[in-house]
Formats: sequence, C-alpha cells, structure tokens
Amino acid sequence: MVGRAILFAPPCRLTGTLVDVNEQQLARVVVVGAGHVGSTFAYALLLSGLAAEIVLVDVDRQRAEGEAMDLAHAVPFAPATRIWAGKYGDCAGAAVTVIAAGPGQRPGDTRLDLARRNATIVGDIALRVARENPAAIIVVATNPVDVLTHAAWRVSGLPRERVFGSGTILDTARFRALLAEHLGVDARSVHAFIVGEHGDSEVPVWSLANVAGMGLSAFGELVGAAVDEAVRDELFRRTRDAAYAIIERKGATFFAVAAGLVRIVEAILRDQKTVLSVSSVVDGPYGLRDVALSLPTVIGRGGVERVLELPLAASELEGLRRSASVLRVALDGLDRTSGQ
Ligand SMILES: NC(=O)c1ccc[n+]([C@@H]2O[C@H](COP(=O)([O-])OP(=O)(O)OC[C@H]3O[C@@H](n4cnc5c(N)ncnc54)[C@H](O)[C@@H]3O)[C@@H](O)[C@H]2O)c1
Repeated sequence: MVGRAILFAPPCRLTGTLVDVNEQQLARVVVVGAGHVGSTFAYALLLSGLAAEIVLVDVDRQRAEGEAMDLAHAVPFAPATRIWAGKYGDCAGAAVTVIAAGPGQRPGDTRLDLARRNATIVGDIALRVARENPAAIIVVATNPVDVLTHAAWRVSGLPRERVFGSGTILDTARFRALLAEHLGVDARSVHAFIVGEHGDSEVPVWSLANVAGMGLSAFGELVGAAVDEAVRDELFRRTRDAAYAIIERKGATFFAVAAGLVRIVEAILRDQKTVLSVSSVVDGPYGLRDVALSLPTVIGRGGVERVLELPLAASELEGLRRSASVLRVALDGLDRTSGQ
C-alpha cells in the first residue's frame, strides 16, 4: 500500500522528495580507468550504496572485467548494486562519469610529459563520454588534474558546470586530518581549505580556517596546542608533500582520493549543495579566467553550482594568483606541444 501511495501520489513537495530518492536509486555511475584509483573508488562507492549501477571502462578490458567480477562478489555484503565491465555506450544515462584513466608520473618524467600523455587520453575519453551522453557530468581525477580538467572541458564541448576535477579535495582532506591530529579534535570539526593547484603551488587558507567558529590560533590556545608560524609551516609542508611521502612508501595513493570522489558523487546524486574544494574552469573570481583550479565550490545535482570567492588575506590572494599563473604556463606548454 505504501508503495502504491508513493507511485500514484499527486505532485506535492513530499512527492518531489520521493521522486528524487527514486532517481537516486536508479543512478548509474561510470568509472573510466579501473586502476588503483578507479577500482578503489568503485569499491568505496559500492559500500556507500549511493549508486544502483557501477560500470567500469578501461582500455585494458581484462583489467576492467577482473575488477568488476571481484567487486560484484562483494555485493552480498553490500547494498544492492549492479556492477559490470562496460563500454562508452554505457555512459548514456549515467548520472556521473569519473575519469581516473592514465598513469601517474614515471621516474624521469617532467610534469609536462605527464600532462601531454594524459591530456590525449583524458581528452579522448571526455569526447567519447559527451558523445554518448550530452547531459553528462564528468569528474576528472587523472593528474595533473587541473590541466586535464581544462582539457576535458574544452574537448568535450560540455558546459563548465558539468566538467570539473577532484582538485584539492584530497589536499583539503589531508590538511584537515593533520590539523585535527595536532588539535586533538575530529577532522570533521576542522573547517579549512586548500585552494589553487592540486600540486606544489597550492595555497592553505589559514585566515579562514576554524574549529567551532574560532580561528586556529585561538582554538590552539584553548586546547594547549599552539598553531604558530613553525607549526603552520610544518603542517602545510606535510599536506603539500603527502603524495610524495606515500608514493615513496607504497607506490601510489588511492584510498583518500577514492573517498573524496565518493563524497563528490554523493553531493551530486543527492543534490546536497555541499561546499567542496574542486577544480573547475573559473570565469571571474579574483579576476581569474580560463584556467581550472580549486576554490570552495557548491556541488549539487547540476554539478558546479557556485564557485565561492572567499575574502582571502593579501598573501593568500597573491599565492592563488601565483598558482593560477603556474597552471596557465602548463596549459600554454600543452597547447604549444600539441600544436594548438
Ligand atoms: N586527483 C587526485 O587527487 C589523484 C590522486 C591519486 C592519483 N591520481 C591520478 O589518477 C590517475 C590514475 O592513477 P592510478 O594509480 O589508478 O593509475 P593506474 O596505472 O593504477 O591505473 C590507470 C588505469 O587507466 C587505464 N587507462 C589508460 N589509458 C586508458 C584509456 N585511454 N582509456 C581507458 N582507460 C585507460 C589503465 O589501463 C589503468 O587501468 C593518475 O593520473 C594519478 O596520478 C589523482
């Protein structure tokens, strides 16, 4: 009876909510690139129960099939989800497509080498996804994520709201985790952002970081854990260089970025209007244009719904502009070498 009432209820606010839930129950998420990042994301997504269908696409078909089989065997212990190794045609009707295809940096590679190699891969994938699904929302995780987000947006022809990158969602998580450890509080109670490039020129926004609305110096004093200049330098250095430290020990990073990707997908599927530091092609904040970088961004059903222009301290604004220049130089380098 309850089910019928839901199906045949007349339009009203409550019905709207139920329709949204039904849509979410039908949500398909496609992952292109079933390597460390893509398959770990698929696993975390499966356990979250957010998606009804998860499709893995990889140039290495065997890899995608193996991962899909392994994941499917976890379904008896997880929320009901259909998982298979698919093709680009499966992107039609997908609520979100995550691109995690392409290798990380190889020894001896310059950043430009990596950008060039992965721009071709990611551009081609974005084009194929957009052809199959003109309503696609594409989330790029492949590195260098800001440059590739720009490339994917440009090649796909999709609006900038619907092509964005995981950006500094990972760096922000690392920053909050390290601050939380230092201050002895839950990382979810630490509100702080890393903006700009996902990489060496990223910028910590110390001036707005807070716990319970208290600035970090004041909160640190309260709990007896100073957040002075030396502590800030050390915590930021460990945030920025975390990937190097992890890769040195285990060869790749994938758990935290996978969790961040699930958080992005959740904000989209549930239209949560969550503020996350993701990378999008900006058009105006701080006078910055035509470059993809991370700023706190409202994410909902439409993808990027609003990029927030924070009241940054002068040194932070200077850092953000420097980061944008680094990314502009990388984009120009890519254009020159690809003859565009
Ligand atoms: N954005 C972030 O915060 C973040 C964090 C960690 C890693 N990464 C990046 O994610 C990317 C993937 O990392 P990984 O560790 O999973 O690498 P990986 O080598 O384990 O996996 C890459 C996968 O991409 C597939 N692939 C390559 N070309 C393809 C194509 N044209 N179409 C479809 N699939 C293709 C490969 O077959 C492989 O399965 C790298 O660029 C890495 O630097 C990003």
